[in-house]
Amino acid sequence: MKTQVGIIGGGPSGLLLSQLLHLQGIDNVVLEKHSREYVLGRIRAGVLEHGFAKLMREAQVADRMDREGEIHDGFYIAHDGVKDRVDLKGLTGGNSVVVYGQTEVTRDLYAGRDKLGGIVIHNAEDVQPHDLESDRPWLTYRQGDEIVRIDCDYVIGCDGFHGVSRKSIPKDRITEFERVYPFGWLGVLSRTKPVSPELIYARHERGFALCSLRSQVLSRYYVQVPLTDSVEDWSDDRFWDELRSRLPAEVAGALVTGESIEKSIAPLRSFVAEPMRYGNLFLAGDAAHIVPPTGARGLNSAASDIYYLYHALVDHWPRRLLAQGARPRLERPALLVVDDLAAAPFPRRQRLRPPHPGHRSGLPVLVAVGAQVAGGELRGPAFLGPCAVDWRRQATCRLSPGPRLKSTEPHWTRTFRAAT
Ligand code: FAD
Ligand code: PHB
Repeated sequence: MKTQVGIIGGGPSGLLLSQLLHLQGIDNVVLEKHSREYVLGRIRAGVLEHGFAKLMREAQVADRMDREGEIHDGFYIAHDGVKDRVDLKGLTGGNSVVVYGQTEVTRDLYAGRDKLGGIVIHNAEDVQPHDLESDRPWLTYRQGDEIVRIDCDYVIGCDGFHGVSRKSIPKDRITEFERVYPFGWLGVLSRTKPVSPELIYARHERGFALCSLRSQVLSRYYVQVPLTDSVEDWSDDRFWDELRSRLPAEVAGALVTGESIEKSIAPLRSFVAEPMRYGNLFLAGDAAHIVPPTGARGLNSAASDIYYLYHALVDHWPRRLLAQGARPRLERPALLVVDDLAAAPFPRRQRLRPPHPGHRSGLPVLVAVGAQVAGGELRGPAFLGPCAVDWRRQATCRLSPGPRLKSTEPHWTRTFRAAT
């Protein structure tokens, strides 16, 4: 199998990158070690910053998040029997966060991948990257008795802290910094009304505690526990008693308890590896850095990696396609924006912002970079994609409303005749 981008890991980082690249016509395959059910069974992040939410919208998978996610403008820090509110919105000049579970984010990303026919291979065992320093790195994985090979241009390691990507980098080419804490967070999910409409981070001599939520009927609570504890040491009753003891009396008194529907202990670590690139392998998300969940940052930092990688790959490909004379498929007539050979630099952003007037026609607006129009024909090698440059800034953009493309073949051909 051949693809442009081989993505290792089908967690939020891998799926988000896959979806964004697919929308830009960049071929990719995701290899995930576990089953979809397993990935969706992991309960982790709950707080998304607006940058993450924005990227979900760009990936066209944000409808449910925008409908069901709760906007929070602040949170509380409890200490010495009192709680102080931190006015997130006021202090940051208007920023808020969205409370929406990572499980739901992942579910929405899977739905997005399914809708577009994205390739996510689950239960891919023994994933191994090869020839990462060459122009044509490749991946192998095992499915049953069969070893499958995938040739790629780039490999992106989105396989979390324990994944294979970072481990494939020779020790003398990467530096790791790590601090492992001697405690973890015991988390409980329960179908109960949250004790507070906004999160409460509690400092207490018995240890830290956090009151969070997923919705108005689903609560998420944490207490700090020694790493030597296991989930079996913590009955539901013991958990609720401990949580109450770490909260101000007024909060503890209002706590609604119930049966736990998930209970797990997350070890806490701070970790960063640099550089995040080795040859044609790029690390993203928890594969490259971990922060303890106290700051609710891990997923948001992962999204920031994906944002920069995604734009770098999208910026990179027009030139590559140009060099290779690649042939993206064109299945409908389209309006054409031509960016001729003299145009430099090539578009940095593959977005039509503001909308090109041609959009009003209802036809896809395409941009051809590096091609020339002569006598109504588009000639020369070109990248042709379902996207366009910021047309106002590209002095060399022609058209409006533009010639209508008529391909002489059902899909791509290098010569297009304007139908005007
Ligand atoms: P992961 O989610 O770890 O996904 C990696 C994927 O790669 C997994 O699906 C794994 O199965 C797969 N994989 C691993 N090895 C291989 C292999 N060899 N081959 C193929 N696939 C492989 N962050 C926030 O921003 N806000 C929060 O509120 C927040 N709360 C948190 C609460 C807790 C208790 C914890 C533990 C974390 C929290 N985080 C939070 C952090 C957040 O969950 C992570 O940063 C996030 O999951 C990182 O996503 P990722 O896709 O990079 O890695
Ligand atoms: C969560 O809801 O799981 C959560 C919220 C805030 C954090 C960490 C985890 O800082």
